[in-house]
Amino acid sequence: MAKRWTNDLTHTDVTPQSVYLNRRQIIGGLAGVGLAGALGSSAKAAGDLVPNDWDTITSYNNFYEFGTGKDDPKRFAHKLTTDPWSIKIDGMVDNPGDYALGDILSKMTIEERIYRFRCVEAWSMIVPWNGFELADLLQMAGVKEGAKHVAFETLVRPEEMIGQKRPVLPWPYVEGLRLDEAMHPLTLMATGIYGKTIPNQNGAPIRLVVPWKYGFKSIKSIVRITLTDQEPPTTWNTAIGSEYGFYSNVNPTVDHPRWSQASERVIGGGLFAERQPTLMFNGYEDQVAKLYDGMDLRKNY
Ligand code: MTE
Repeated sequence: MAKRWTNDLTHTDVTPQSVYLNRRQIIGGLAGVGLAGALGSSAKAAGDLVPNDWDTITSYNNFYEFGTGKDDPKRFAHKLTTDPWSIKIDGMVDNPGDYALGDILSKMTIEERIYRFRCVEAWSMIVPWNGFELADLLQMAGVKEGAKHVAFETLVRPEEMIGQKRPVLPWPYVEGLRLDEAMHPLTLMATGIYGKTIPNQNGAPIRLVVPWKYGFKSIKSIVRITLTDQEPPTTWNTAIGSEYGFYSNVNPTVDHPRWSQASERVIGGGLFAERQPTLMFNGYEDQVAKLYDGMDLRKNY
């Protein structure tokens, strides 16, 4: 099942990290045609953006379970035990159960996806993820007729996640997607960055990545996935509903009540780097705009 999605970002015109290159060869050997094909198809695309380096991606994080500072996740997330790990898949599925992560991974095709990542706080990065399509996992679980949404839940373990000792947010962190968003081939379950195991601060051992939505939709360290016919509650919407909606599609024309979303600060671009214009659906308009045909995006922020 060698599925792929054409990225418009690529490594081809940059000097990749040597560690990444080595790893890419290893993965290429394992995944065979799938990865080779994905790299080939991305090579013909624009390639004008450069992925952030490993240190930036893994040291400037939002993961409130470990504190609210950008460097807190890197400082405290090593305490999280990520093995063993299982994901409960329940609700409107044919095959509910507690799935060991290793069993899931043995059935999935790991691909590389270089995606723009745009936080609602108006900063952005470019991340070379490794992962599989959420659609493949949902297919394995067997989505029942009538299911309309997918709910996600992060682990609660205050002994290891020190930020959970305070009610900064309601725990567990929860997120949700409409079923068609979840099934979209861009929607990824990430287990790696730069071909290496995803670090704890980035959401180990498995997280969601929805590149056309603000970063907070991309929930980390997932332990539960529930298929439902109701729109599920989401953490930031529950915390401050007037500022964070269910959809949270990146949209430069709809400002956050307290700041503009028209442009973004590029992390790693240097102190005096110019802000860059934010793209509709974070640059994935061609692929996802049809999901929202006829919808008032100002109302459904
Ligand atoms: N997931 C959980 N469980 N807890 C969080 O605090 N923060 C979100 C999202 N996923 C968050 C989370 C936010 S606000 C962003 S911008 C991204 O993770 C940050 O991902 P990164 O640290 O890998 O850049």
